[in-house]
Amino acid sequence: MTSIDYSQKIPNNVDLSSDKRLQRALERWQPDYIEWWRSAGPTDFNEREIYLRTAVSVDRDGWANFGYVPMPDYRWGIFLTEREADRRVGFGDHEGEDAWQEVPGEYRNWLRRLIVTQADTEPASVEQQRLLGHTAPSLYDLRNLFQVNVEEGRHLWAMVYLLQSYFGRDGREEADELLDRRSGNPDHPRILGTFNEPCPDWLSFFCFTMFTDRDGKFQLLALAESGFDPLARSCRFMLTEEAHHMFVGQTGVARVIQRTCELMNENPGKDVCELGGIPLDLIQRYVNFWASSSVDLFGAEVSSNASNFFRSGLKGRAWEDRYDDHQALEGAYEFERFQDGAFSTEEVPLRNAMNEVLRDEYIKDNEKGVVYWNRVCEKAGVEFRFQLPHRRFNRNIGEYGEGRFDPEGNPLEEGLWEVEVDRWLPTQADRDLVLSLMKPVTEPGRMAGWIAPPAKGINGQSADFEYVLA
Ligand SMILES: [Fe+2]
Ligand SMILES: [Fe+2]
Repeated sequence: MTSIDYSQKIPNNVDLSSDKRLQRALERWQPDYIEWWRSAGPTDFNEREIYLRTAVSVDRDGWANFGYVPMPDYRWGIFLTEREADRRVGFGDHEGEDAWQEVPGEYRNWLRRLIVTQADTEPASVEQQRLLGHTAPSLYDLRNLFQVNVEEGRHLWAMVYLLQSYFGRDGREEADELLDRRSGNPDHPRILGTFNEPCPDWLSFFCFTMFTDRDGKFQLLALAESGFDPLARSCRFMLTEEAHHMFVGQTGVARVIQRTCELMNENPGKDVCELGGIPLDLIQRYVNFWASSSVDLFGAEVSSNASNFFRSGLKGRAWEDRYDDHQALEGAYEFERFQDGAFSTEEVPLRNAMNEVLRDEYIKDNEKGVVYWNRVCEKAGVEFRFQLPHRRFNRNIGEYGEGRFDPEGNPLEEGLWEVEVDRWLPTQADRDLVLSLMKPVTEPGRMAGWIAPPAKGINGQSADFEYVLA
């Protein structure tokens, strides 16, 4: 079952050809998807041969193949990890019961909502990154952008398969809607906030793949625990692909930092901007923006939806097997309530705090990335240290959405935010400076002046490898 059938119009490892109705429905959706890709996906590069990886099996080792392919010919398909014998629901009220192979009727709406919300982020990010191909700092980066794009497209396929095969007519309608909404469109936006933010430059792209794709990782980890087995298996394979996206973000930002440190060391006392680099404090402001926006994606601290999703066995905690108690009925979660300008500690039943539990794991993972960036500064002998903004900083959702906090999480007196915000979040001048540096570099092996080369090539390729053919 792990091997993928590439002889079909839609590559898959779910024996699609045995279900003619579903196969027809998906084949009907396929041209609409390609149409969406051409009109809302990467501009102008669709005729170019790109060095991309394609999944050939769902085994942990050796699952991908590398080769040149024009993006519209990429073999998007439906790949689930292998079915575990005797899998049980791992948490919530149904713990220990057989995992569901069909949608449990009582939870149908919740489940559809979870799948649609996840699905919507996939095409959204492709739309946000639509124009970046024109300003890529190297062919290596251009190829990575397109790799991320085609895989987000595949993640949409993964979710649409679930909608079309398990949710009948509603599922087909949702699948169509997923191609109709557009990132940033005021009349018909994507569902979640960060996925409507413009991503007009490569520093934003690297921060996005670092912080926003990492939100994706944790949502997928929680859904990979789902008692609805086809969802769990879809998400498990998506996680395999997702790792590369965060690698692009973390190392991308690190390479910008490294280049700036080099420029500082080679030209002591000079202004980095004049040398064509991106100042470290400006990078910190981009980090502050994308990190805080992505922290909002986890939702409110106290949430009855989160409790319902957990109780029903639809959405667990990341790495549920690390916990002893999978009921979460006894424990309480302590968090800082912020009311009338003051904090008070409040205990909420653990099940109602599942958003916060997932957010904790996410923040821990982000912190590791920041440590990695600071090692770059340290190695270069540069004193600057990056900081992850506090979870209360620049929030729009939940307990801290009403107040104003500095990046350390301290509440601000009335009016102070407006005075200080230009130190904390990207200013128009910051954005203009970054945009002014966005000039494409298309010669194999060459890098734009504001970013260091990668430590190694993709799939062991040499530094001057031609990742995108002219
Ligand atoms: Fe994705
Ligand atoms: Fe991703």
